[in-house]
Amino acid sequence: MLFLDFFPSITARKAWNARKTLTPAFEDYYNKGLDKNANAFIAGRARAARVEEFTNNDLAGFEITICFAALTNTVPNSFFMLCNILADPILTADIREEVSKIVTRTILGRRVVLTLDISSLEEDCPLLVSCYHETLRMCVNATPVRVVMEDVIIKDRYELKKGGVIQIPGGALHESERIWGGDAGVFNGRRFLQKKQLSREQRKAQTQGLFPFGGGKHLCPGRQLAFSEIASFVAMMIYGFDVKMRDGGLIKPPPFKVQQLGENSKKPKHDIEVIIARSKEFEGAVWAFKVETAPGAPST
Ligand code: HEM
Repeated sequence: MLFLDFFPSITARKAWNARKTLTPAFEDYYNKGLDKNANAFIAGRARAARVEEFTNNDLAGFEITICFAALTNTVPNSFFMLCNILADPILTADIREEVSKIVTRTILGRRVVLTLDISSLEEDCPLLVSCYHETLRMCVNATPVRVVMEDVIIKDRYELKKGGVIQIPGGALHESERIWGGDAGVFNGRRFLQKKQLSREQRKAQTQGLFPFGGGKHLCPGRQLAFSEIASFVAMMIYGFDVKMRDGGLIKPPPFKVQQLGENSKKPKHDIEVIIARSKEFEGAVWAFKVETAPGAPST
């Protein structure tokens, strides 16, 4: 309702009040120049916006959209990835084995420090990466929208008129049995390891059929950050913790809730009660994450 801007103080009161609280707080942050101490992502974005003469009030507004874009996607995808792995003991054991290769153990004073090397995730943890893609396939139902800028005919078949609105239903692609096979409706953590066994056409259909981050000019700029955050968090949880349902049984992923307007990722229909304990082997250990800055990236 907030997006529709139809008397938001009445029709979307909770969200409207939250925005009224957050915007001045972010503006105050920028007025005090605190972004000088922020990480490269925040500082670089503010620098680019100022070049275009955006004000601190504009920047404060942008922060709200970033919180929305990042958190409403990262959190449910982390949750479902973790749940679906933990629901399968063999998958959990295989991923633990993979993650053990990228965690180093050091002693700092009297503490054991476990350092997870985020830059090695992609190369050394193919099963974890496959579970990540499978989670996005199951969980993300985004519908990017585009406006047609001029009349065009695509493939001699589809005529698009200037000013028309196009919706690209990612969820329909992600659920398609034609693309993913008869088990499209279930989580298969090993699905993206099996690509070599597919025909060329099937591989092409699956590459084009996975659309979690949109595409083109508006392709999600947070996609690498999302991978690092989600995959490293899940790797740490799987490797360093034992997670069970409250009754001691295996994790049962909850069903998806019906999506609301503006949500790209599906959320759980209800909470689940779990018990989280450190694995005996790592009791008292501290976790650290090794992050490498891409070559050429600004340091501030
Ligand atoms: C699993 C996590 C995420 C998913 C599934 C996701 C998905 C999407 C999708 C579908 C779009 C629309 C793309 C289009 O219209 O073609 C988008 C745009 C965007 N996302 Fe993400 N996103 C995720 C994480 C993040 C994170 C972590 C950030 C920032 C820290 C972020 C920032 C943005 C921004 C700023 C846009 C607008 C881009 C534009 O309009 O040019 N996203 N995202």
